[in-house]
Amino acid sequence: MSYRGNGNGISHPSTNGHEPAHYAMLKEKIAILKRERNAVILAHNYQEGAIQDVADFVGDSLGLARSAQKTEAEIILFCGVHFMAETAAMLCPDKTVLIPDLAAGCSLADMIVPEQIRSWRSKHPDGVVVCYINTSAAVKAECDWCVTSTNGLKVIEHIPSEREILFVPDYYLGSYLKAKTKRKIHLWKGYCPAHAAILPEQVDRLREKHPDAEFLMHPECGCTTKQMHLADQVLSTEGMVQYAARSNAKEFIVATETGILHRMRQQNPEKQFYPASEHATCHHMQRNTLEKAFLSLVKLEHVVTVAPAIAERALRPIQRMLEIV
Ligand code: 13P
Repeated sequence: MSYRGNGNGISHPSTNGHEPAHYAMLKEKIAILKRERNAVILAHNYQEGAIQDVADFVGDSLGLARSAQKTEAEIILFCGVHFMAETAAMLCPDKTVLIPDLAAGCSLADMIVPEQIRSWRSKHPDGVVVCYINTSAAVKAECDWCVTSTNGLKVIEHIPSEREILFVPDYYLGSYLKAKTKRKIHLWKGYCPAHAAILPEQVDRLREKHPDAEFLMHPECGCTTKQMHLADQVLSTEGMVQYAARSNAKEFIVATETGILHRMRQQNPEKQFYPASEHATCHHMQRNTLEKAFLSLVKLEHVVTVAPAIAERALRPIQRMLEIV
């Protein structure tokens, strides 16, 4: 499958506006298969546009976890990355969770492994370990609390103020939470390569070129620490989509993975959206394609499971988070 650009240099399949001719047929077949299989499709905001179009729910990590919990379908086709599908598998042990491409991982999640948490904790025995949801189930099993980009501030409020916090793995989300809460938070130095592709200079140039545009930033954004004070809004992906719809502004600079532009443009045809960087693309998210989603439903592959001993421990920080936010 090849994707054509739309002439503005953006190569993300979600943003080029031209779908391959056979996509219409694939979308129809997927709709039929969904019914036959009693399946639901959950898609992250970074997925290619065509996948978002066939999904029953499109959202951020928190919204996807909650949708998985609520669904009555027998099969969840999870069009996102592996840690998200793992979370759904743990929350819904009675369902079959499929992912279109098993290699759709997360570079940020790969920046920490369970042994590193154990070792860090041993140096801060009174520390509370808070993990971003972008971690493997095995890492979550070592942690006390889980957060998403939506609820980090609320979760931290629940941790007694005298306790120091060890935050993994995203340095930038952790820095944002540290600045906002003024808490003693030790930061792991992980980062998301797609967000790291967004450079402060690029954002400065765009802001000069579009002075009336609102600047929306994801907290994983590598330039968060330098430009946090300039951002009109620091939001999760779903927070950005919803904010863009309700804001009176007509132009937005969007500092996150470019897949998000699909829904923003679809829902707000009268508004202009400028990606902070056209290079902010996640090659893991892009591994899932409409063809692979179709094949997943045909072959009922690739099943995502978590070993029960890990799931039992990893669910604790997730459930605690879901109970409060
Ligand atoms: P959201 O939960 O904001 O969608 O973020 C998930 C993610 O992986 C961002 O890179």
